[in-house]
Amino acid sequence: MRIDIITVVPEMLDGFLNTSILARAQKKGLAEIHVHNLRDYTTDKHRRVDDYPYGGFAGMVMQCQPIDDCIAALKAERNYDEIIFTTPDGEQFDQPMANELSLKGNLIILCGHYKGIDYRIREHLITKEVSIGDFVLTGGELAAACMSDAIVRLLPGAIGDEQSALSDSFQDHLLAAPVYTRPADYKGWRVPDVLLSGHDAKIHEWEMAQSLERTKRLRPDLLER
Ligand code: ADE
Repeated sequence: MRIDIITVVPEMLDGFLNTSILARAQKKGLAEIHVHNLRDYTTDKHRRVDDYPYGGFAGMVMQCQPIDDCIAALKAERNYDEIIFTTPDGEQFDQPMANELSLKGNLIILCGHYKGIDYRIREHLITKEVSIGDFVLTGGELAAACMSDAIVRLLPGAIGDEQSALSDSFQDHLLAAPVYTRPADYKGWRVPDVLLSGHDAKIHEWEMAQSLERTKRLRPDLLER
């Protein structure tokens, strides 16, 4: 799969793309992530990509031209399944959306900044508007990073253990069971006996019970869904 991220602050994504699961997935040839600096597409001699809003409102608004030209240049090279805009008023990103997007071939993620983008871009070019939560970030870069991570780790082979992406919290609307590693006794804090029993059926039963109990206690809304 290929993800093209359009941003005015590409350096914000550098460290993340070069160190995380995304770096590994790219090395393995499972995913390609390309970051595009929106300023490279502006026709403004001062490399500006924003301007004052009509109507005298406060803040700056990202202009149509650089975004339109950047998206057009990408679309001239290949077809895209979705052109996503990160915005707090978008559809809530969650595990089902990550699953769905991980099955796509090519995605564009446009990171919002300033007060917003000229609404005509949203009307004419964007196919999906996504929020990562009910809070306002300075820009969409962290949202694009979260989404890319959640999507790419689902690609077969991206994480070591094929099973583990499927057993994540939320994957079946349940929170995951607790996990432990050696030593079995650390300062008197003991690992649950059942996990040391070697009895697969009992361990599985314990895992399901823990999963249900934690979901009921911490996220009852998931069970209602
Ligand atoms: N940009 C600013 N805040 C955001 C949020 N919560 N989700 C996605 N993009 C954003």
